[in-house]
Amino acid sequence: MSSRKGPFKGRTVAVVNDLSLDEQRYLYRKAGELKRLVRSGGDASEFRLNDKDYSVYLIFMEDSTRTRESFRNAAKFLGARTNLFDTATSSFNKNESMSDAVKMLYGYSDESCFVIRSKLEGVCRWLEESLGRYADICGRPRPAFINAGDGKHEHPTQEFLDEFSFIEQLGGRDERIHLALTGDLYHGRTIHSKADGLKLFREVEVDLVAPEILGMPAHYTQRMRDNGFLVREYESLDEYLASGKVAPIWYFTRLQLERMGDEVLEKAATLRKSVTFRKDMIGLLPEGTRFYHPLPRDRTAPTNPTFLDETPLNGWDSQSANGYWTRIALIAMAAGLLGADFEGEAKAPQAFEDDFVHEARVVQRDKPEYKVGIKPVEDGLVIDHISSGDSIRDIWGHLDAIRRMLKLDVRGGHGVFHNNQGSYKGIISLPDVTSFGGRDLKKLAAIAPGCTLNLVHEHRVVKKYRLSMPPRIYGFDEISCKNELCISHPTSLEGATTEFHRKSERGDPGGAKFVCRYCEREHAFREIWDL
Ligand code: ASP
Ligand code: CP
Repeated sequence: MSSRKGPFKGRTVAVVNDLSLDEQRYLYRKAGELKRLVRSGGDASEFRLNDKDYSVYLIFMEDSTRTRESFRNAAKFLGARTNLFDTATSSFNKNESMSDAVKMLYGYSDESCFVIRSKLEGVCRWLEESLGRYADICGRPRPAFINAGDGKHEHPTQEFLDEFSFIEQLGGRDERIHLALTGDLYHGRTIHSKADGLKLFREVEVDLVAPEILGMPAHYTQRMRDNGFLVREYESLDEYLASGKVAPIWYFTRLQLERMGDEVLEKAATLRKSVTFRKDMIGLLPEGTRFYHPLPRDRTAPTNPTFLDETPLNGWDSQSANGYWTRIALIAMAAGLLGADFEGEAKAPQAFEDDFVHEARVVQRDKPEYKVGIKPVEDGLVIDHISSGDSIRDIWGHLDAIRRMLKLDVRGGHGVFHNNQGSYKGIISLPDVTSFGGRDLKKLAAIAPGCTLNLVHEHRVVKKYRLSMPPRIYGFDEISCKNELCISHPTSLEGATTEFHRKSERGDPGGAKFVCRYCEREHAFREIWDL
């Protein structure tokens, strides 16, 4: 095992937010130092691992030129062992799972870093978890996973090189940025990573320029606004240029034809027209404007056409070269080589407060409180206020689901009744049940947030608990991510356990949003359940 102990050792980067802002700034600082050193012929030996027992595995399940080659060259510069995993000739074609393949490769070297590009979203997060567990069992160092683009989710290392390039253009200043994002904002993962990557700047103005059908998914636009960005939206470059608020930094993207359904694909030529730059537009740009593009551009119909190549607008060539410097720095951090001089706020682990059970006040009444149909409950449990305010039909559905999921096939009754607000609620009476296990309690809170659990003794409610929406819903067979490209989707057969995180704080349970831990797709509360 190596003696490298940097604070980023073994760190997985599945999304941009896996590095705190200070950690991202550190990455940009180190990449800048390295670039200057190498370009000026200086001694860059502090950036070299020179360790053939450190492996960089390049697993590319989707085509790539820049990302794969910059990582391969970065690993070579560092003096690490490199393995290129060619999916066209690997046993993935024999239906092998990612976990099995990665576990095997992990066994080949002392320490390792996996760079993975895949159509499946959330792969790195899942492997961080599953291989992390395996490494702990073996008593060996946890491998790092670096997302080199997962479906239409994120492309964090592209984001790092983009931000590094913007900062270069702005002379190292990060007070404010005004930029336009144009092209295929719907499918473009490099665009989605901007929702968090741009937080690097204290003040952010983003102009989203795309026809509606290729527009930014609403949850990313919302995330930008939640991050304090000023967001404006336009349907075409013509409309944008006529707005009088044109940005000096433009980020073009290619139409992601390989991710489109037939209906959108048919319209591709027309859609592309509205985001393709023309010669007559040059005069409408602010002084000093630079164009960027993650590349590749479509050689038959580039959105940033070739007549721009030799103009001062071309920022994309130096941008793509920056992929090399930023990726050397990133692997060096993940290998534990860089980081000893890091100062600032480190990425905090995600914390969940399981505070969904609250004891409520019991109001004593003269007459027995609950009945099972026509029979009063003498001793037992009563679940009240189920789906309060929902339609009668939905409440019956939930009563049935609760009984099934909590296996409440015992004596008792349930029904739909008036609540105090003039609408309806469900009640389940369980005269033979006197307690609930923690897991069932959580399940109940997750299916019927807002309900109360009443402990009845001698016809009186002696304890009352109000259950609210848990911050995490996981470990139940009845939930699944509805994104077919997610690593945890049942069809991926990778064994990732479904897990949702509550996005909105409290409030209306029906309105709460849940985000898949892996692909980060947003779900309405009702959508997560397979009931
Ligand atoms: N190369 C980038 C990606 O893989 C952008 C693109 O392909 O259009 O996301
Ligand atoms: N920018 C980018 O990811 O390019 P490749 O698809 O060629 O890797």
